[in-house]
Formats: sequence, structure tokens, C-alpha cells
Amino acid sequence: MEVILVPDPAAAGAVAADAICALLDRKPDAVLGLATGGSPLAIYDELARRHRAGRVSFAAARGFTLDEYVGLPADHPESYRNVIDRDFVSRVDFPPGAVQGPDGLAVDVEAECAEYEAAIGRAGGVDLQILGIGTDGHIAFNEPGSSLASRTRIKSLTRQTRMDNARFFGGDVAAVPVHCLTQGLATILEARHVVLVATGAHKAEAVGQLIEGPISARWPATVLQLHPRATVLVDDDAATRLELGDYYRQTYRAKPDWQGI
Ligand code: F6R
Repeated sequence: MEVILVPDPAAAGAVAADAICALLDRKPDAVLGLATGGSPLAIYDELARRHRAGRVSFAAARGFTLDEYVGLPADHPESYRNVIDRDFVSRVDFPPGAVQGPDGLAVDVEAECAEYEAAIGRAGGVDLQILGIGTDGHIAFNEPGSSLASRTRIKSLTRQTRMDNARFFGGDVAAVPVHCLTQGLATILEARHVVLVATGAHKAEAVGQLIEGPISARWPATVLQLHPRATVLVDDDAATRLELGDYYRQTYRAKPDWQGI
């Protein structure tokens, strides 16, 4: 796991955007795994800026989102299909239909989840997966207790996650759906490169567990310790529980420029 400590979310966004632009340079039809929520916004802002400046194109790329609430109407502004469209897809040049997400209104949920896994497989798998982390240690919506071998399926959100996400629903916890469809931890581990962004003091405990804690379903993000190419971008506020912060800083400073992340 490569740990990069950055001063603030914008710096994390720039490092991740560099990696995505480098990937698209060498593989214009790359498959991106797209997270929603607050964490990736600085990445999407930076990519939209670079796109406007003519520095990157998504015209041949494809994307898969991580998860979706169950039961939100298709036109609900907080359905993750609409969120990813607003936050990222509509700001760059993906062709229509190039970004998919699981259908939270599917009648046959198991068939939908199996089909989503198959669609990722048909696309050749995810080249670079952007991730955030929940305050309870979830990645995608794999809440504590999730099987480390899980695939796309329906899950129940914890009370903590619903409280954390109430800010997107006018502060009303009751308006946050209870169920979601989410890629599993094993699905995420198959991405060729995962880039997780964690910013803010409220993420410090989860970040400490993710990077330096034991691998455990109690903190699902810890499964990334098994990934051969995981990059974790952590801002100063989220890094306060790390025991080896000086080592991570020193290692990144000494990294050769050509290497990228
Ligand atoms: C969203 C997702 C979640 C979020 C996590 C952190 O697609 O998969 O795991 O990344 O809940 O959310 P923010 O970034 O809003 O703090």
C-alpha cells in the first residue's frame, strides 16, 4: 500500500487526477471505477478543469459506479446515477451510456447484481478505481461485517452511514434509504489500481485502521492491505492517528518523479 500524505483535499485531487490522466494517455479506452460522495469531488473538479483546458478526454473511456441506494425514484437528485452525472460525467466528454451503475429499482435484485458484475467483466475489468472511506470503515457500501470475499449484492446501511449521508438529504436521516446495492470487497480488489481519498478529521480513525490496523471485517477498508496496487491519499486532518506518518512523508519525498503512483 502506498500512503501519500497531502496538505488538503485539492492536493489529493491533483495527485489522483495525474494518475487518471496518465492512464488515459496510455489507454484512452480505460475503465474507471467511480465513487460518489464528498471525497472524490476534488478529483472530479480537477479532471473537469483539465478537460476544459483540452488536456484530457474521456471520449473512449468507460465508467462503473460503486453503489446505489435502493428505492430512490430515477429522478431523485441523490440517486448515485444522478450524483455521478452532476458531479463528473456531465462535465467531461464521456459518450452517452459509457458510465453505468447498479439499478437500485431493479425488481430482481440478485439478477441485477450478477449482471452488474458481468458488465464489469465484459468491459475488461476496472483499470483504476476511485474510493472514499466511510467513518465506520466502509468502502463502497461494504459496511462492518461485510465478507472480505463479497461480490455485488444488497446491503443494509449502518445508522452511522445514514447519519453521515443525511447532509445530502436535507439533514433528515429518515430520508436516507436503508438498503443499497454495492460492489463487494472482492469485486473492488479486482480493480488493477485502487486510489482511495480520505480527508477531514472525521476520517482519522478509519484511516488509522485502514493503513495500520489488522485486516478485519470490522473495518472493511482494511482488505485493501491485500491489494497489490493500492494508493491512499490522506490529508493532514485525516492523518492524525497514523503512527508512521513521518515514514510515509519521507518515502513520498524520496520517490523518483518518473514513477507516478
Ligand atoms: C460512495 C461510496 C462510499 C463513500 C463513503 C465516504 O460511492 O462508495 O463508500 O465513498 O461513504 O463518503 P464521503 O466521501 O461523502 O465522505
